[in-house]
Amino acid sequence: MPEIQVLRIGHRPDRDKRVTTHTALAARALGARRVLVDSRDPKLEENVRGVVERFGGDFSIETGVQWRKAMREFEGKVVHLTMYGMRVDEAVDALRGEDVLVVVGAEKVPPEVYQAADLNVSVGNQPHSEIAALAIFLDRLTGGEALYSERGGRMKVVPDGRGKNVVDLS
Ligand SMILES: C[S@@+](CC[C@H](N)C(=O)[O-])C[C@H]1O[C@@H](n2cnc3c(N)ncnc32)[C@H](O)[C@@H]1O
Repeated sequence: MPEIQVLRIGHRPDRDKRVTTHTALAARALGARRVLVDSRDPKLEENVRGVVERFGGDFSIETGVQWRKAMREFEGKVVHLTMYGMRVDEAVDALRGEDVLVVVGAEKVPPEVYQAADLNVSVGNQPHSEIAALAIFLDRLTGGEALYSERGGRMKVVPDGRGKNVVDLS
């Protein structure tokens, strides 16, 4: 199966902790194997690793990453999510079977990112959020495959329409 990684750029540890944590958790839940974050943030790493430790899966986080280098050296297609990009459905067709590095911003993204990407892809042409854009993009790219995939964690949620059913296997 093709590998998906996510690169979060413009992370400000003092302001973006929650949004970047949710970006990483959405990446994990929707099928990515790794998230890279440009600013060093040990607390963010600890929070995300805590979820992986409890709920399982093959997912890693690295912070303090040089984004230019990460984009340049990725062996696969680099996709920058932006409201100005090509339509998501057309992009997904062009990406089938490829390893993909998905780049999402925080505030304004430097023009260089648009140029360094293989594809600039929009999830609609309205401004919204990196978490929403990433979730919809990954869901389209994977055909929803990751949503209920087995992660082998010690905490296991049993789908239940009437309440909260969690098995602790530890
Ligand atoms: C809050 S937005 C920043 C928008 C900022 N004004 C700009 O022009 O880059 C944060 C990130 O969400 C993602 N994003 C927001 N709307 C999007 C859309 N319609 N399609 C794809 N990505 C989007 C982009 O990755 C963007 O860098």
